[in-house]
Amino acid sequence: MQQHLADKNIALDLVRVTEAAALASARFTGLGDKELVDRAAVDAMRIAFQSIHIKGTIIIGEGEKDEAPMLYTGEKVGFGDGLEFDIAVDPIDGTSCVAGGRPNGIAAVGIALGGSMFNPGHSYYCEKMAVGPDAAGVIDLDAPIKDNLEKVAKALGKEVGELKVFVLDKPRHSQLITDIHKAGARVMVHSDGDIAGALMAVDPIADIDMLVGIGGTPEAVVTACAIKGTGGQMLTRLAPKTEQEREAIIKDGVDLKAIRTVDDLITSDQCFFASTGVTPGDLLEGVRYKGEYAITSSITSRGRTGTRRYIHAWHDRKKLSQMSSIEY
Ligand code: FBP
Repeated sequence: MQQHLADKNIALDLVRVTEAAALASARFTGLGDKELVDRAAVDAMRIAFQSIHIKGTIIIGEGEKDEAPMLYTGEKVGFGDGLEFDIAVDPIDGTSCVAGGRPNGIAAVGIALGGSMFNPGHSYYCEKMAVGPDAAGVIDLDAPIKDNLEKVAKALGKEVGELKVFVLDKPRHSQLITDIHKAGARVMVHSDGDIAGALMAVDPIADIDMLVGIGGTPEAVVTACAIKGTGGQMLTRLAPKTEQEREAIIKDGVDLKAIRTVDDLITSDQCFFASTGVTPGDLLEGVRYKGEYAITSSITSRGRTGTRRYIHAWHDRKKLSQMSSIEY
């Protein structure tokens, strides 16, 4: 029985969780209200989780119980049977993108066998460098960006000048962006959404070769679930933004200097990832509407086999809404 459960591919069930979050929140695209976008996604995601046959514990959620009524850290989710899983949710990565009508807002979820997910505790920011399988062995967080770009270009059989590097458009990245330009590579800046950025960097069909910069630590763990088993790599190192964050991490007993690979963030290959586009991106289309229907574009992956699936689904919004208390 346990063997049967261990071999079950939950990725296809999981995609219904991110589809629900995307469908519920896309209704608020471009209306300028981040709270509405997030709340709709959280509500829908939580209900959708109830049908997944796992005993899930939220490791990365919407915050501590007293600040997040749903999908809070430590909350039990899932139908309550099957294997124990650690859960990392990002009901919307890029809430500002969705509220502001900009690209790359996605709903994302990563799950890994109980006890195998890195718990970021009080760490909110980390350095990240992500690439696809061909360049996985050549990146080095300690090396200058110029050296990394040269090695990645060589591994991909490209000129440095052809490389497209995803960087979040934040003041903290101004020197990094200057250095990438000086090395001759191209910087593709995005206001938010480095899960989508890493997915693109790792996926050979997307037009991004690499992701670099400082972003959320929780987002890094979700991303690791997606990269695990695909042959791609993401290196991370905690990068506290404030003295308070640094002290809290030290108090948690977490090594600040360690460089963590995907396998350090997710130690079991029994892990799954799903993501659905809310606003249009280079990898995933956003939610589109045709009469009564909404069309979603999603990706799922499974750590054990590295299989990735791209799924387009047509949803009858009326029927879906009738079946749940959620407005799609
Ligand atoms: P939210 O949707 O939760 O706001 O996250 C968006 C995001 O851009 C992440 O993709 C990224 O990891 C993080 O914020 C970076 O944080 P900050 O915007 O504070 O620099």
